[in-house]
Amino acid sequence: MAIYIPEEKLSEIRNTANITDIISERVVLKKAGKDYVGLCPFHSEKTPSFTVSSVKQIFHCFGCGAGGDVFSFLMKHEGIGFSEAVQSLARRYGIDLPERNMSASQKAAVSLRQQMFDLNRQVMAFFTDQLSGRSSGQKAMAYLEKRGFRQEIITQFGLGFAPDGWDNLVRFYKKLNVSHSLAENTGLIVPRKDSGFYDRFRNRVMFPIFDMTNQIIGFGGRVLDDSKPKYLNSPETPIYHKSRSLYGAHTAKNKSRETGNVYIVEGYFDLLALYQHGVTNTVATLGTSLTVEHVNALRRGFAQKAFLVFDSDEAGLKAARRSISLFMNASMDAAVIVLPKGYDPDSFIFEFGREAFEKVSEKAIGMVEFLIESSIKTNGLSMEGKVRVISDLQQPLLEINDNVARSIYIKYLAERLSVNENAIIEKIKSGEKRFNQTTRQNNRLKDNDGQPSLSESEPLIESEMIKVEKQIVSMMLKSPEILPEIKERRVLDYFSDKRLIEIAKIVLEHPIYGDEETPGLMNHLESADLKNMFASLVIEDECRDLNNCEQLLSQFINGIERRQNSLLSQIKSAQESNDEELLFELLRKKQEQSVNR
Ligand code: GTP
Ligand code: MN
Repeated sequence: MAIYIPEEKLSEIRNTANITDIISERVVLKKAGKDYVGLCPFHSEKTPSFTVSSVKQIFHCFGCGAGGDVFSFLMKHEGIGFSEAVQSLARRYGIDLPERNMSASQKAAVSLRQQMFDLNRQVMAFFTDQLSGRSSGQKAMAYLEKRGFRQEIITQFGLGFAPDGWDNLVRFYKKLNVSHSLAENTGLIVPRKDSGFYDRFRNRVMFPIFDMTNQIIGFGGRVLDDSKPKYLNSPETPIYHKSRSLYGAHTAKNKSRETGNVYIVEGYFDLLALYQHGVTNTVATLGTSLTVEHVNALRRGFAQKAFLVFDSDEAGLKAARRSISLFMNASMDAAVIVLPKGYDPDSFIFEFGREAFEKVSEKAIGMVEFLIESSIKTNGLSMEGKVRVISDLQQPLLEINDNVARSIYIKYLAERLSVNENAIIEKIKSGEKRFNQTTRQNNRLKDNDGQPSLSESEPLIESEMIKVEKQIVSMMLKSPEILPEIKERRVLDYFSDKRLIEIAKIVLEHPIYGDEETPGLMNHLESADLKNMFASLVIEDECRDLNNCEQLLSQFINGIERRQNSLLSQIKSAQESNDEELLFELLRKKQEQSVNR
């Protein structure tokens, strides 16, 4: 349901919000000329074609064609509607939306996501109060202190305590007057079989889970003793997806971007321990193995290189096998750190300190090398051993799409085993056929977002005609002095592309006399399709003087006229030769042309 937002408010938000800030909270952007570029969050790519213009306040991807203003970005990135995007920006920039004027049903439409974020924030406060309170929170605080955590870390990460009992949170919700559906949506209380709810988290240390932009998306909780399950997390909700979310995303971002490196650990406490010792560029997966979404988010938004930290060879091996192709295919370097037997990152850094941790990091080896060396360690270098090593590596090497990288690894493997390179290639190829029929097909059909990959959604090659039409509209945007001539010569009447006609009409009505007026124009475009097209026209950086412009117009109109004339003369000769079939076909063509005009 859409909320009515007055036009002045929209422009206030538009003028205040900075698209570069909003996008760079989610994607690493680098300055390139007067624009910024990064890896597109809307399709998989290895070289940046995603462009953001601060001057024009728009984004456009040259790879997949996505584009628009700050509202369209948020809508597409977070999967939300227009009014949600407006509300979230208003909130972010402290702009009051006139809630008082909203009807009850409008109020009810205040984004569910935003309500969940707000409620989670209040729940965090409830848990932190419990932790610092006199009563049962004391044993939780004692537990955290016993594990060595300082107060500042406990505060910074918003750690809390869910007291024992079945209805502490349920009663807190009642006090806040939280609606049943909202309460159920956040997943922190669970419906009873008969009626009512009970608390999901009881007698646990609580970890709020923040996203990159500092919103609380869910919670994790650990028992204080040896009872089971040791950890419990929020269930999947509209704002919490464990296959996408990473613990520590908000605290790891800056240092990761600065150093180009990010550590990936398995546990909440591993992350907190590293953080307390100054290793702040760390994220943790949330009780799940790494997914393609995690890796892509890290590559786009955090760093070029990942260090995966494991507490045993076996754990490292398993994870490396599973995730190697994710890193390769996201063009993210990945190295594996295996800690000495019996230590996880938490116990290691508390016992040996930061320098020791950095020393083992320096000894981290690349993931493929790690797989090869581990396999050699297990299988040995006897003849049979070598055969098994090559078998072990067959699948991971197959999954690497980058031919150059693959051949480098094959060469390394051949040398390491003293086996002919071609023999290894043969062996790998033997798995390729089967592999092609399954995995690769799936990989190709869907990219990380489950959307069709570029190669399939690529539009047909545009006709010359539309190309020129695009140039003309782009010119209308950049050289408003040409607009009178466009009107006078009725250029739009000759256009064939409906989207371009619509955009051009709007430009005629609202000429742009400076870059800062670009975003306002976006307001007049209804569909995402039009916005994409508009952004691509605006970001095109072609310089033309008035002379060029006029030449382009003349060429376009002459071309159309020539085509029409040739059609007319063909019709004439078909009439003369009594070729009725041809005549019919030609008349149909002519009619088509006039429909477009
Ligand atoms: P501590 O014992 O508190 O130091 O935790 P840890 O992180 O060292 O524990 P462990 O190595 O057993 O688990 C690593 C991570 O896996 C945890 O941080 C959790 O995210 C997850 N995990 C472990 N046990 C459970 C469980 O029982 N349920 C769920 N959902 N996740 C778990
Ligand atoms: Mn641990």
